[in-house]
Amino acid sequence: MNKVPLFLCLFLFISNFFSPSLSEKCNPQDKKVLLQIKKALNNPYLLASWDPKTDCCDWYCLECDLKTHRVIALTMFSDDRLTGQIPAQVGDLPYLETLLFRHLPNLNGTIQPSIAKLKNLKTLRLSWTNLSGPVPDFLSQLKNLTFLDLSFNNLSGSIPSSLSKLPNLLALHLDRNKLTGSIPESLGRFKGNVPDLYLSHNKLTGTIPASLGNLDFNTIDFSRNLLEGDASMLFGSNKTTWQIDISRNMFQFNLSKVEIPKSLSRLDLNHNKIFGSLPQALTGAELQFLNVSYNRMCGQIPVGGQLQSFDYSTYFHNRCLCGAPLESCK
Ligand SMILES: *[C@@H]1O[C@H](CO)[C@@H](O)[C@H](O)[C@H]1NC(C)=O
Ligand SMILES: *[C@@H]1O[C@H](CO)[C@@H](O)[C@H](O)[C@H]1NC(C)=O
Ligand SMILES: *[C@@H]1O[C@H](CO)[C@@H](O)[C@H](O)[C@H]1NC(C)=O
Ligand SMILES: *[C@@H]1O[C@H](CO)[C@@H](O)[C@H](O)[C@H]1NC(C)=O
Ligand SMILES: *[C@@H]1O[C@H](CO)[C@@H](O)[C@H](O)[C@H]1NC(C)=O
Ligand SMILES: *[C@@H]1O[C@H](CO)[C@@H](O)[C@H](O)[C@H]1NC(C)=O
Ligand SMILES: *[C@@H]1O[C@H](CO)[C@@H](O)[C@H](O)[C@H]1NC(C)=O
Repeated sequence: MNKVPLFLCLFLFISNFFSPSLSEKCNPQDKKVLLQIKKALNNPYLLASWDPKTDCCDWYCLECDLKTHRVIALTMFSDDRLTGQIPAQVGDLPYLETLLFRHLPNLNGTIQPSIAKLKNLKTLRLSWTNLSGPVPDFLSQLKNLTFLDLSFNNLSGSIPSSLSKLPNLLALHLDRNKLTGSIPESLGRFKGNVPDLYLSHNKLTGTIPASLGNLDFNTIDFSRNLLEGDASMLFGSNKTTWQIDISRNMFQFNLSKVEIPKSLSRLDLNHNKIFGSLPQALTGAELQFLNVSYNRMCGQIPVGGQLQSFDYSTYFHNRCLCGAPLESCK
C-alpha cells in the first residue's frame, strides 16, 4: 500500500519534468529574458539550475511574485568563476524589485544603463565586484529605491548630486571605491527620509557642505577620505544620530563647541586636526565606542559616563589631553 504515494510522487515529478506547460507558473517573457541573461554570462555554474525545461520560478538566484509569478528578485552572489559584464537584458525584467550582484570579483564593465528601466526597483546592490566607471546619474530616476549599495567596487568620478532626488532612500553605500570631487551640496536636501550615508574609503576632497547640518542622520561614515575644514554641523543636541565616523581625513575644527546628541553610540574622529577639548556632554551620551586619537586636542577628559571605560588608545596622540585613562592633569 505504501508504494502508491511513492509512485504518485514519481509520476508527478516526471510529468512536471517533461511537460512544464501543464503547471509552469513562470511568465514566458521573463523566462526568455532569463535565458538570455544566462547566455550573456556564458552559462555560469551559478545558474546551472536555469534549465529551460523547468519552471523558472523554481530556479536559483531569483524569486517570483507569489500571485503574479513575475520575477521580482534577481540575486547573484559569491562566484569567482562568473565573468563578464552585467547583461543589458536585466532591464527587461520590468517587475524586478531587487537586483543584486555581490561578491563576484570577475564581474567588470560599467553599471549597466538598462537598469534605468527598472522603475519598481527598491533594492539595488552591486558590491564586491570589479565594476568601474561612474556612479550613473540615471539612478535618480529609480524613485522607489530604498537601498542603494555600490560599495567595494572600482567606481570613479564624482557623486551625482541628483541622488538627493530619491525620496524613499534609507541607505546609500558608496564606500570603498575611487570616488573623487566633493560631497554635493544637494545631499543636505533629502526630502522625506534621511538615508544612512556611507562614503568611506574614497578620495573625496573639499569641505562638508553646510546643508548637511540640517539633516538628522542615523549613521554617517565619511572616514578615509581627503576631506577638510569643519564637521561640527554633523552634530547637534536635538539630533538622534547613532554613529559618526569621520576618521582619517583632514578635518580641522574646535570640538569644544560641538553639541553631542544623547543618542550617539559610536564616534570615531581619529587622525584629523581637530582641536579644542572634549565636550562635557560626551558623558551623557550612550557611547559604546569612542576614538579621538591622533588629533590636536587639549584639556581634561570629562569624568563620567563611559569615558573612563575606554582605554588610553581612545585618547592618545593628542596635543595635551589629560586625566583618566591618560595621565592626570598637572
Ligand atoms: C579588475 O579589472 C582590472 C582591469 O580593469 C584588472 O586589472 C584587475 O585585475 C581586475 N581585478 C580583479 C579582482 O579581477
Ligand atoms: C573584463 O575582464 C576581461 C578579462 O576577465 C577582459 O578581457 C575585459 O576587457 C574586461 N572588460 C572591461 C570592460 O574591463
Ligand atoms: C513604485 O512601485 C510601485 C509598485 O510597487 C509602482 O506602482 C510605482 O509606479 C513605482 N514608482 C515609480 C516612480 O515608478
Ligand atoms: C580598478 O581599475 C583599474 C583600471 O581602471 C585597475 O588598474 C585596477 O586593478 C582595478 N582595481 C581593482 C581592485 O580591481
Ligand atoms: C532644540 O529643540 C528645542 C525644542 O524643539 C528648540 O527650542 C531648540 O532651539 C533646538 N535647538 C537647536 C540647537 O536646534
Ligand atoms: C574652542 O572653543 C572654546 C569654547 O568656545 C574656546 O574657549 C577655546 O578657546 C577654543 N579653542 C581654540 C583652540 O580655539
Ligand atoms: C583608535 O585609533 C587609533 C588609530 O587608528 C588606533 O591605533 C587605536 O587602537 C584606536 N583605539 C580604539 C580604542 O579604537
